[in-house]
Amino acid sequence: MPDAGGGDVAARLDAWRRRIDGVLEDALARHPAAEARLGDAMRHAVLLGGKRMRPLLAYASGTAFGADEATLDAAAAAIELVHAYSLVHDDLPAMDDDALRRGQPTVHVAFDEATAILAGDALQSLAFAVLADAPCSDAARVAMLRELALASGATGMCGGQALDLAATGRGAEAGIHALEHLHALKTGALIRAAVRLGAIAAGAPDAGCVRLDAFADALGLAFQIRDDLLDVEGESATLGKTAGKDAEQDKATFPALIGIEASRARLDGLARTMDAALAPLGPRGDALAALGRLAISRSY
Ligand code: IPE
Ligand code: IPE
Ligand code: MG
Ligand code: MG
Ligand code: MG
Repeated sequence: MPDAGGGDVAARLDAWRRRIDGVLEDALARHPAAEARLGDAMRHAVLLGGKRMRPLLAYASGTAFGADEATLDAAAAAIELVHAYSLVHDDLPAMDDDALRRGQPTVHVAFDEATAILAGDALQSLAFAVLADAPCSDAARVAMLRELALASGATGMCGGQALDLAATGRGAEAGIHALEHLHALKTGALIRAAVRLGAIAAGAPDAGCVRLDAFADALGLAFQIRDDLLDVEGESATLGKTAGKDAEQDKATFPALIGIEASRARLDGLARTMDAALAPLGPRGDALAALGRLAISRSY
């Protein structure tokens, strides 16, 4: 990945990357699976790489509002566990039918399909168990549980995945508004939740959360447009997942609908939206800003 920005911010992001790996390892160890193969599949899905964008967003938004990392660990882990589950299910033969993820065989290839379904289910449950133990006020904890539930389910990520599947095979037919809605749900909902969970855990005032939504929504759309572009322009070895799948499956994507140049121009516009949304935070928003830049310029 390109450098995130100033040396200080890059060092903070690196420290959070190391931190979340330990927190996830610990969460899996504290809730051992009743069946060894299921536990192995869960560890495969969570611990073998990944950019950790969503936990980093939770740490960045929470610390912007004064929380320390220990207060944010549960939120950061919970959002990554839901994300990891969504990838396991996204790769299943019934969905995108992918064999490569994070440079490794996908869970249903490394194990089997039934185990992959159960590992995804169990990772989602574990996310809520972890969040239920967050060291916050009861009100903040309930608000976080509600936020994650709504962002994950039919009103959020699952709803977006259903829209994605419905559009598959007739990718260029989607209108631009329908495509933005699809992306806002399948990818944007968990990214918005990541930023919100950090803010809730930190006890941020509501106005702060509203500004953060504008930032997170722009980042979520940018992240998926970049994902769509990388599927066209990237290589499997760098991406850690199979390039060219979207065109092969005639998925609804930004390049399919508006072309590569217009997709890039859209990213430039979203970068300006993110900057404007973060401006009131001043230097407190530096880590969020760096993550916004990464979403747009990432190479995997
Ligand atoms: C991939 O997410 C799926 C999308 C929502 C685009 P990431 O690109 O964050 O995947 P990892 O976690 O780094 O593997
Ligand atoms: C996946 O979108 C979004 C979720 C997993 C919710 P994609 O299908 O584009 O993600 P990749 O390209 O397989 O990572
Ligand atoms: Mg998909
Ligand atoms: Mg996919
Ligand atoms: Mg993709």
